[in-house]
Amino acid sequence: MWPVRVPQVGVTMQAVIQDRYGSADVVRLGELPDPVPADDEVLLRVRAVSLNGSDRENLEGRPAYARWTNGLRHPRDPVPGSDVAGVVAAVGRGVTEYAPGDELYGELAGYRGGMAELVATRPKLLARKPDGLSFVEAAAIPQAGGIAHRATAHVRPGDAVLVNGAGGAGGVFVVGLAKHAGAEVTGVDRADKADFLREIGADHTIDFATQDWADERGRYDLIVDLVAERSPFRVHRALRPGGRYAMVGGQARILLGTAAVGFPVGRVRGKRVGVLVVPQSRADLESVTALISQAGFSPPIDSVYPLRDAQAAFARIAAGDSRGKIVLEVPEGR
Ligand SMILES: NC(=O)c1ccc[n+]([C@@H]2O[C@H](COP(=O)([O-])OP(=O)(O)OC[C@H]3O[C@@H](n4cnc5c(N)ncnc54)[C@H](OP(=O)(O)O)[C@@H]3O)[C@@H](O)[C@H]2O)c1
Repeated sequence: MWPVRVPQVGVTMQAVIQDRYGSADVVRLGELPDPVPADDEVLLRVRAVSLNGSDRENLEGRPAYARWTNGLRHPRDPVPGSDVAGVVAAVGRGVTEYAPGDELYGELAGYRGGMAELVATRPKLLARKPDGLSFVEAAAIPQAGGIAHRATAHVRPGDAVLVNGAGGAGGVFVVGLAKHAGAEVTGVDRADKADFLREIGADHTIDFATQDWADERGRYDLIVDLVAERSPFRVHRALRPGGRYAMVGGQARILLGTAAVGFPVGRVRGKRVGVLVVPQSRADLESVTALISQAGFSPPIDSVYPLRDAQAAFARIAAGDSRGKIVLEVPEGR
């Protein structure tokens, strides 16, 4: 068990600080006061925190929806990072389900605050870390696993599934779970990720720079789009009758267009075209973690950096060099 570190007034912790939007060089390691848990919060000593596409969006402040939730001019919460794994250091008076020393993992409400030695958060989104998972592996799962769990919930053996943005944080989990469900999977990403996509189970790959998957008519039962840039009028043509297009992330105008007209556009031909909303949920996290373990699928980890090298980790994800998850490890603390 990790030693319990109780927060003290006037004591500071190391944290990654982002006080404006921009490229990787806007993040720096700094000192912030130790958070003190409210009565209904746990104080988690973070041991690992993973990066997702949403962290890159929250760094850059684009697409526009990143500012709708984080602050129009600058991030309201200066500490990035949503997917954490760590050890409970202290609990508020009203918390009964967890105790100091418990090993937990999960996605933080508000998607911020995880890239620090300590974070205070309500426990309802956090789950007990399975013994078989390291902190790094556990931190890799929450957001990406949650997306994949919801996106592939109705996949049947033999379904043709296309994953647009297959080599990124969420895409690798969608590919893994769709294959586990027995689908024939096409992964779309940069040409230099094709070998990696085949390694994680994709049957076919498409280089988005040279081929437009939306030109294929009536080909897919499910399209999971993590980097949407096509109108609902275009994407529905690539679906088979009864097929479904799920927009997960991408351009803000496509998000608004898909939310506004996707439903009627899809219904014209008995298809479904819409935005996949993935709620943060402990039950989903536990269930996708169990599924990942059943599938014998290890969360693909691209690289692990120490917390102090957060800038390099952000630079790697922004440059498009990553294949799977990037994780920051947090030293045990003073
Ligand atoms: N709907 C919800 O409830 C919900 C919840 C959480 C998150 N999200 C959203 O989910 C989205 C996906 O996140 P993620 O973590 O998987 O992102 P990610 O790690 O950035 O992965 C995106 C992948 O797509 C590739 N790519 C870039 N441009 C492409 C293109 N034009 N065509 C095909 N592939 C392309 C990227 O390659 P490079 O890295 O080489 O550029 C990368 O491999 C984010 O927008 C996030 O906001 C949605």
